[in-house]
Amino acid sequence: MDKYINFSSFLLNKKTDQQSIFDIYNKSNVHLYTYSRIALFEILKFHNKKKLQNIYIPSLICSDIISSIKNLNYKIYFYEVDKQLNPILSSNTKTDILLVVNYFGFSQNLKFFRDYINSNKCITIEDNSHGFLSRDIEGKLLGTRLNYGFVSIYKSLNIYNGSILINNTNNNIYTYKLIRKFNLFYFLKKLIYFNLFNSPNLNFKIFNIIKFLKKIKNTNTKVSNFDELYLPNNVNMYENIDLKLLPFNYSMEVKRRRQTYFLIDKLLKKEIITPIFEQLNKNTIPFCYPFYCKNENLEKIHKILYKNNFVIVKWPKLPSKIKKKPSFYDNIYYVTFKI
Ligand SMILES: Cc1ncc(COP(=O)(O)O)c(C=O)c1O
Repeated sequence: MDKYINFSSFLLNKKTDQQSIFDIYNKSNVHLYTYSRIALFEILKFHNKKKLQNIYIPSLICSDIISSIKNLNYKIYFYEVDKQLNPILSSNTKTDILLVVNYFGFSQNLKFFRDYINSNKCITIEDNSHGFLSRDIEGKLLGTRLNYGFVSIYKSLNIYNGSILINNTNNNIYTYKLIRKFNLFYFLKKLIYFNLFNSPNLNFKIFNIIKFLKKIKNTNTKVSNFDELYLPNNVNMYENIDLKLLPFNYSMEVKRRRQTYFLIDKLLKKEIITPIFEQLNKNTIPFCYPFYCKNENLEKIHKILYKNNFVIVKWPKLPSKIKKKPSFYDNIYYVTFKI
């Protein structure tokens, strides 16, 4: 892997061109949370009523998100998406809250939602968990286009946790206090990744060891749908105080993610996969390289990528309520940029 695009490179370059997160997002309507699930829970709790309300969410979604809705007074309806991940909304389903997901950092075209939103007069939430720094075709930052938005910053940058809620309403959503707390695991991880080894190959090995250890830990201690049932109980901001200043070089990060996308596209050009998105427009800052692949062809793709220090992730683990689904939901994979 080219050293320039490896995951640590933008941090190593942090001394130049530093930007604050509030140079990007408007400080007055941004709040910090540990995870987007907590941000979503707080939005839904604010709008929770005694009377049962409806929430309309895509069926192509990770099961974790259900934990944000579970203990509140909402009935969940699912809408399917087509192969381009555009929504298939039913005018027969009435809702109070609509969730719009920008998959993998690629913007949803809001024109597909307009008629539905206008006729339902619902509250709108933009799930931009994957799309930190990404913008739509008009240059609008994803997460800022509807009533509320959230962005899991930790999914793109290697910080322990951290999500932002972008509140475009005048509603006073509950905000957690920031606590600066030392976390040994996070400290070691950061030390290993960024300070000791400026080597993509070594980072790749460490990534695999951490992945393996996490797998053992999860199989031993958790029921399989644990994350669907329970919100993360960690609401303390460890190093997230960093988010206030975020001493990172964002233009490097934008470059890194776009270059990584093009590199993987080149590696897989002749292979039997179909990229989910036909092209990368100039405003999209992808979170990963998403593609469709049949199960029987995966091994070969895995080998090509592994040789180049890249890893494939299967996405998503669907909510347990989704029984009927289009077959392509089972063929979605992405190459992570987080190494
Ligand atoms: C589309 C989408 N939204 C939200 C989430 C939850 O994000 P977080 O881990 O920050 O709670 C996920 C989880 O991976 C996701 O894939």
